[in-house]
Amino acid sequence: MSSEKVSVHGSWASRWVFILAATGSAVGLGSIWKFPYMVGEYGGGAFVLVFLACIALIGVPVMLAETLIGRRARQSPANALAALARDVGQPAAWSWAAFAGMLTALLILSFYSVVGGWSFDYILDMAKGDFQGVTPDQVGAYFGNVIGDPLRLIFWHSVFMFTSAVVIAKGVVGGLERSLRIMMPLLFVLLLVLLGYSMTTGHFMQGLHFMFDFDASKVLDGLLPAMGHAFFSLSVGVGSIMIYGAYMPKSASIGGTIVSVALLDTFVSLLAGVALFPIVFAAGLNPSEGPGLMFVTLPYAFGSVPFGQVMGVVFFILVGVAAWSSAISLLEPMVAYLVERHKISRAWVSTWLALACWLFGLGTVFSFNLWKEAKFFVNDAAGFHLYQWGAQAGLDFFGVVDFFTSRIMLPLGGLCFAVFAGWVMGRAAVRDELAMRHPLAFEATFFLMRYVAPCGILIVFAAQLWK
Ligand code: TRP
Repeated sequence: MSSEKVSVHGSWASRWVFILAATGSAVGLGSIWKFPYMVGEYGGGAFVLVFLACIALIGVPVMLAETLIGRRARQSPANALAALARDVGQPAAWSWAAFAGMLTALLILSFYSVVGGWSFDYILDMAKGDFQGVTPDQVGAYFGNVIGDPLRLIFWHSVFMFTSAVVIAKGVVGGLERSLRIMMPLLFVLLLVLLGYSMTTGHFMQGLHFMFDFDASKVLDGLLPAMGHAFFSLSVGVGSIMIYGAYMPKSASIGGTIVSVALLDTFVSLLAGVALFPIVFAAGLNPSEGPGLMFVTLPYAFGSVPFGQVMGVVFFILVGVAAWSSAISLLEPMVAYLVERHKISRAWVSTWLALACWLFGLGTVFSFNLWKEAKFFVNDAAGFHLYQWGAQAGLDFFGVVDFFTSRIMLPLGGLCFAVFAGWVMGRAAVRDELAMRHPLAFEATFFLMRYVAPCGILIVFAAQLWK
């Protein structure tokens, strides 16, 4: 028998499959739906540049840390952290970072599934020709109708959650590979087609300026959101990438692999933004429109070009699949943990977890209709209220879940993972696992993981508190 440890859940066939799976996890609604509307909300170029800096200096080092922890221990995140900590005589309580991560992942999935459902809904709407020749105002009203109808949202939310649970029940290794190999490149091609269209709108340069003009006065406001989104976009901070790392073959080089995944993900985000904003301006829409931005802008674009109807259908199918491969990675850490720990079947665990997320997701569904007026953390002229019905300011239920997960839990999770790899595991173990050819490359990576990423996270938190 070989002495190499292998995960009980299986293992990727090769480095390519890991890249596909990790890219499938990273590229999703975060790049195509969330990134553009956050850029719009936080004022364009300043947000984009801070986001890129956070990806490079914090996101990638944390992603490396997660992957190497997972691959070294070959178990689900909670057991991985406990086992590696025990190896060096540290408390097994490190596994709490992974438990917090699993919970965060489930919370994210609860709203992720609702938005994934919007994409599924749009596949049919596109196919029916609902968007042919419509004006931007009409698409806006259409979207308003969709999210205003709780039963419609619940239906698609259920479809999304159910299909994700089926895939995860069958096991991640294997099934995912086939679909991703075709769908991911196709999504990329369609984004390029959209980019081609936005070049013809006459507002392309305006879009580029909006995306890349740096306005220093906006940096501070966008700092924490940009860092949080860097984590969200790369799928780091909860153990998703750690569990995928546990399935990674020993021969694959972690450094090159992770950098490729991060580059692909970032590229898709930028591409989505550069393609979207010219259309936003051409249609006279408001960039800070919020979560509906993509669902109003793109149907309008598809509705006004030849073959737009077919392309629109294909596009929303691909977004659905991209969302779906991300959703799977959100469930996987908890599923793998429960299977390891209690020896229960994947199918059973997946069903119950999906059901719990589905239930919690109803809160997000209602945020757009029945509970629209319910606002939390209201801080306005009348002072601070934890909760107020009908307030102008404040966060709705979806806003609270999003804030808590992306801006607090993901960076905290990332901080724990980076500190664990940089300070607890020890230099020799990290060097062995990274197996970088060049000693200088290792020194630089280890420095980023040990000092830059943790300090960066703390500085952003501090800046937010003192601003
Ligand atoms: N990265 C995915 C996206 O951009 C979402 C996602 C998947 C995620 N797994 C995650 C976010 C883990 C945070 C943590 O759409």
